[in-house]
Amino acid sequence: MIYQNFSKRQMLALTWWNRPGLQGYEGIICDGAIRSGKTLSMVTGFFLWSMAHFDGCCFGLCGRTVGALRRNILFYLDAWLGQAFQIRESRSENKLVVTGPEGKRNTYYLFGGQDESAYKLIQGVTLAGVLLDEAALMPRSFVEQACARCSVPGSKLWFNCNPEGPEHWLYKEWILKAREKKLLHLHFTMEDNPALDPQIRLRYASLYTGAFYRRYILGQWCMAEGLVYDFQPDKHIAKEIPTTGRYYISVDYGTRNPFSAGIWCVSQGKAVRLREFYHSGRESGRMLTDEEYHDALVKLAGGLPVETVVVDPSAASFIATIRRHGVFSVRKARNDVLAGIHLVSGLMQKEVLQFAPQCKDTIREFSLYRWEENGQTDRVIKENDHAMDDIRYFCATVLHRNKEMRRLE
Ligand SMILES: Nc1ncnc2c1ncn2[C@@H]1O[C@H](COP(=O)(O)OP(=O)(O)OP(=O)(O)O)[C@@H](O)[C@H]1O
Ligand SMILES: [Mg+2]
Repeated sequence: MIYQNFSKRQMLALTWWNRPGLQGYEGIICDGAIRSGKTLSMVTGFFLWSMAHFDGCCFGLCGRTVGALRRNILFYLDAWLGQAFQIRESRSENKLVVTGPEGKRNTYYLFGGQDESAYKLIQGVTLAGVLLDEAALMPRSFVEQACARCSVPGSKLWFNCNPEGPEHWLYKEWILKAREKKLLHLHFTMEDNPALDPQIRLRYASLYTGAFYRRYILGQWCMAEGLVYDFQPDKHIAKEIPTTGRYYISVDYGTRNPFSAGIWCVSQGKAVRLREFYHSGRESGRMLTDEEYHDALVKLAGGLPVETVVVDPSAASFIATIRRHGVFSVRKARNDVLAGIHLVSGLMQKEVLQFAPQCKDTIREFSLYRWEENGQTDRVIKENDHAMDDIRYFCATVLHRNKEMRRLE
């Protein structure tokens, strides 16, 4: 009854294990566009398969973190399978016990591939199958260990992921070798999700540019190359400068390397960088002290009521200086580079981030800040990245708390 709403490819991800000609496969690997229904169809299929074939067995359900798993998977379980199975979650043990209509009962352990302890925990168990949600974001050692635990006869591997770079180990070792490893490979596009409204599809498409558009919207494994941000003066240079709102300062600290700080005004769904202070000790031949930098921040604030100064988390001495003066409240910035870049890109695509024309160093860095090419993983070149970093700190530390903007993360 629940099946009628699945697309053809989703149906295949759900029922391949029960189809003539496909039962010889030892697992399934689904990659492709975001929001295409990979997780939903695989999780449903995984439970139907495991409950149909096993009783009294253990399975692994792995996500990036146990928290992400709960958000992505447990929600579906109740909605899609809650009528057919009794699902009991033990939060303290990170496990689910699922009982079927004929009394079959299996246990599903939840693992977070990026959680420190996960590797040790999974080493000790014997599994009849494992589902890896967003496998490309897990360490290779964890994925290999999870697969090695599947020693019960008839066990199968279920992987899904969004594409990364073409040098990624998951692509080279699993997707390109799917046939050799007897894995059924299904490639998803957004059209495979019948519930995705065309308007919403367009909205998702508008959030990404360049390699990330190709990966997340088109589902291609491609390199991040060229400029990191798609800065367009007509979209991103502020036409109006707000005169009221909430004010913040963000800082990337440097002594010989450049020091960059910007003051932001957040109002009416926009964050405008009003002006900035940028100083290169090396180029000017004069290194400033923390006291002088503090004076520069006071001048940058220009008497505006700044709520918080967000600072490069490694700048311990400068954070202490700001605290000692007691003029500003200060916070260490969140510093996950790739997640931050995604956030900033999305906010730029939505034209939430705006820059006053006098932010010359920001505008210059936008035209220079690039991806390192031919890398195994996505990496930015650590040059011309000072205003870029303080912008990222501001977005990841201040704007991510804003509900409207959080949806972009
Ligand atoms: N056949 C369907 N019927 C109803 N809702 C669906 C269907 N397929 C997917 N959805 C819904 O669409 C959204 C995206 O699905 P899902 O999370 O499975 O996609 P995904 O490919 O795993 O995305 P991501 O790559 O972002 O993790 C979810 O809210 C899901 O409930
Ligand atoms: Mg998913």
